[in-house]
Amino acid sequence: MQSSSNRPLALVTGASSGIGAALARELARHGHDLVLSARRREPMETLAAELRRFGAEVRIVPADLAAPGGAAALVAKLGETAVDVLINNAGLGANGPFARIAAARHDEIMQVNIVALTELTQALLPGMLARRRGTIVLVSSTASFLPCPNMAVYAASKAYIRHLGEALAQELKGTGVAVNVLCPGATATEFFAIAGGVPTGLQKNRMMSADKVARIGYAGLARGARVTVAGWINRVLAFVASHGPHAVTLPLAQRTLAQD
Ligand SMILES: NC(=O)c1ccc[n+]([C@@H]2O[C@H](COP(=O)([O-])OP(=O)(O)OC[C@H]3O[C@@H](n4cnc5c(N)ncnc54)[C@H](OP(=O)(O)O)[C@@H]3O)[C@@H](O)[C@H]2O)c1
Repeated sequence: MQSSSNRPLALVTGASSGIGAALARELARHGHDLVLSARRREPMETLAAELRRFGAEVRIVPADLAAPGGAAALVAKLGETAVDVLINNAGLGANGPFARIAAARHDEIMQVNIVALTELTQALLPGMLARRRGTIVLVSSTASFLPCPNMAVYAASKAYIRHLGEALAQELKGTGVAVNVLCPGATATEFFAIAGGVPTGLQKNRMMSADKVARIGYAGLARGARVTVAGWINRVLAFVASHGPHAVTLPLAQRTLAQD
């Protein structure tokens, strides 16, 4: 799709549910056309119908980002489409001790959260640089601020995302391309069920809606923030996680952030 409107075009991965769907709504409300991508087509059809009521042009491009070459296949389907805003949101986790989680599950997490996200960014950045205009949002997590026992690969993947995003934001200063790392805390989506766990007490108490995360995320993108942590409680937790001694914070994280 070459957007026939003058509206900027946003590609949202993981747009079939949760934070991705909410970010797509927020972008449509703020005058963007959209390309929605995920594996499940049906929820994206429903979302597309809703977004068209905001006047947005919407295209659905299904893709499996866990498949090797999945990101390249998605880019190929986009053809000459100029993407102004890339929202790298698709992601998943696995709850439980490292040794008990199937290696294939860890591969899937690394493929979607790290490999596909990096490949999509790499593929779409040159066009943005040539146009001297663009925004890349990388959805990380408050889990990126501390190694997380019982969610070890997931938290490590989110640390990778935040480091990648912060480095790119610095590299790309003055190019017209902005990079924003969005770090939600516990959010009420399908995430916990898919990760094979239920939210812990601490997570339940501070659970945010996907709509609220998306509003905060859009505001961060709009003001050109480098890192947006969703909500002040999560900002305090991120600060403590970043600065506290690991001898204290790791056992705390083990008790409060994921179950064994
Ligand atoms: N919920 C939280 O507490 C929380 C906190 C911090 C960060 N996050 C991050 O927020 C992002 C969105 O998660 P969410 O909470 O909204 O969870 P969610 O409701 O489970 O959404 C995950 C999205 O990723 C897509 N996805 C998963 N595997 C995929 C694959 N192989 N290929 C393509 N798309 C795939 C899913 O679509 P299909 O299944 O249709 O493919 C879905 O649209 C993730 O990166 C997550 O790590 C979530």
